Amino acid sequence: MSDIQYKFPEGFWWGSAVSATQIEGAADIDGKGPNVWDYWFEQEPNRFFDGVGPANTSQFYYKYKEDIQLLKETGHNSFRMSISWSRLIPNGRGEVNQKAVDFYNQVIDELLLNNIEPFVNLYHFDMPQAMYELGGWESREVVAAYAEYASVAFDLFGDRVKKWFTHNEPIVPVEMGYLYGSHLPDTVDFHKAVIAAYHTMLSSAKAIEKYREKNLDGKIGIILNLTPSYPRSQHPADLKASTIADALFNRVFLDPSVKGIYPDDLVELIKAEGFMPHIEAGDLDTIFNNTVDILGINYYQPRRVKAKENMPNPYAPFTPDRFFDYYDMPGKKMNPYRGWEIYAKGIYDILINVKENYGNIECFISENGMGVEGEGRFLDENGVINDDYRIDFYKDHLKWIHQAIQEGSNVKGYHVWTFMDNWSWLNAYKNRYGLVAVDVHGDNSRTIKKSGKWYKQLSDNNGF
Ligand code: BG6
Repeated sequence: MSDIQYKFPEGFWWGSAVSATQIEGAADIDGKGPNVWDYWFEQEPNRFFDGVGPANTSQFYYKYKEDIQLLKETGHNSFRMSISWSRLIPNGRGEVNQKAVDFYNQVIDELLLNNIEPFVNLYHFDMPQAMYELGGWESREVVAAYAEYASVAFDLFGDRVKKWFTHNEPIVPVEMGYLYGSHLPDTVDFHKAVIAAYHTMLSSAKAIEKYREKNLDGKIGIILNLTPSYPRSQHPADLKASTIADALFNRVFLDPSVKGIYPDDLVELIKAEGFMPHIEAGDLDTIFNNTVDILGINYYQPRRVKAKENMPNPYAPFTPDRFFDYYDMPGKKMNPYRGWEIYAKGIYDILINVKENYGNIECFISENGMGVEGEGRFLDENGVINDDYRIDFYKDHLKWIHQAIQEGSNVKGYHVWTFMDNWSWLNAYKNRYGLVAVDVHGDNSRTIKKSGKWYKQLSDNNGF
């Protein structure tokens, strides 16, 4: 009798996700144009943990062959990467950088040679600086330039890449850039946030339109962080608070991406507050006609909310916190090394929601992982990071994914965040997530962690 208790369907995708800025390094090499992170670091290095910027992140640009062997050694049959827009098209529009074409061709070919399916994402928080100067997602010119960039990428790589994604977590640059100050433009402006969110959504639909015009035989989707929004209680005021949070942070991209329309309650709220973006003729048709084939779902922790207990300060800038308060649920399980809640059932709730309310669209878990600050303390005498906590984290989430599959969820795979320790936006190398450790302050050498070895068995057994 097999001792595999949780067996996954044949052909399940076991993989991990990375993003270009976070692993490539070579930020100003071989013709790459700067993106907002290169620019911001130059302006304000002290905003970045330990003053470490994006210039030298893990050196995948040089080490991709070695890294693809490590993908094999850690059981990957699929790998989610992103293309750096400003590497491929240094000014955001116009001339294509041949060195970048060569690099991404080599990476894609090497993956395929090793039987690892590339899942390619076009945008992971890395606005080219030239496009930022045009207004970033506030600008329709940038929407057009992005669709052109997508089209170039499909032409160059679409013969081999069969899984495309327009954006990763599009709500994050919106909320962090326009509400909570950890992405550029580092401002608090709800109206601009709405405009940026609307334009990002439109850009996704326009990219999908371009993809379909080319009749390529692949699938195209979007990757969303569908953070479940749990109310403190079943009291109507708490329920209302959680519904609003769900509309603002989840359904704002989920509904137009999958159903082609914005949710009524969200539109009413934005209208009532006077923040409607300018919508041009044809925009809503473009969104309606270009829904996704496949959905990537990122999940880390839930959002717990309650009704507002105090009247919002009328003089404070308008932010979503006007509609709800965060609820610190007693007894919730915390990741002691990163300060985030661990609630594995959240992943099941998302999958069941997608099954019941979004036509059970084909989906996969595109990020799930556990960050650890100061992970060096778990190094054992053989020089291996002994990360049993991460293995437990994955198992807990996989049990719930398994349960969702038993109940009919159309989830096709699991990608952890992340393959190797990587640089993360303002947090730089503070939190480590990798299956593989990287000597980030030394020679960037790689060592597979205990979780990486476990992941190989998981993939070989298609279960655990
Ligand atoms: C995810 C992002 O939401 O969170 C990643 O897609 C990011 O790009 C990850 O690295 C972890 O973030 P942090 O701040 O814990 O390093």
